Amino acid sequence: MSDGVDHSKRRTLTIAAGAAGGVGAAFTAVPFVASMLPSAKAQAAGAPVEIDISRMEPGQRITAEWRGKPVWVIRRTKEQLKGLDDIVPYLRDPNSELPMQPDYAENAYRSIREEFVVLVGICTHLGCSPTFRPEVIAADLGEEWRGGFFCPCHGSKFDLAGRVFNGVPAPKNLEIPRHKFISDTVILVGADDQGVA
Ligand code: FES
Repeated sequence: MSDGVDHSKRRTLTIAAGAAGGVGAAFTAVPFVASMLPSAKAQAAGAPVEIDISRMEPGQRITAEWRGKPVWVIRRTKEQLKGLDDIVPYLRDPNSELPMQPDYAENAYRSIREEFVVLVGICTHLGCSPTFRPEVIAADLGEEWRGGFFCPCHGSKFDLAGRVFNGVPAPKNLEIPRHKFISDTVILVGADDQGVA
């Protein structure tokens, strides 16, 4: 299980950039440098990011980076999906009525496909990054716990759809960024059918 930044994708980008550099250098260095600048600027400005989910196992979380923020993709198990129903009485905004997600994520699973949820990994209280606690039973988080995220800064709790619990400092569910599946195995974060976020 990996829950770090998607290093394999970064390696791919690095290798691709290196190969392009080699080709560019064979002709002239100046056009190569010039051609790379807009891309770097676009990244800094928050260009959409592709996340490869082809190797994700059920229950796994992977982390990418978009606009300088951690973005999580979680592939939820059947048991974890059932837990999202069980936990509803303990949640502040179980039906996602506050505008913390695009309309295609205003459903029980806060997702386009039931299994996969995409979340901005920043607590809606004061901006810490919550800890992934996927276990369905966790003695330290209460008997109602069905997997989710625990913020170590002031104790906010979120379920595996990023929905905030009642009685914690965080006022809102975790943000769901605009995103879309561009294939069965790749999610684009930062854009959807309506355009770039
Ligand atoms: S920043 Fe997460 S609970 Fe305060």
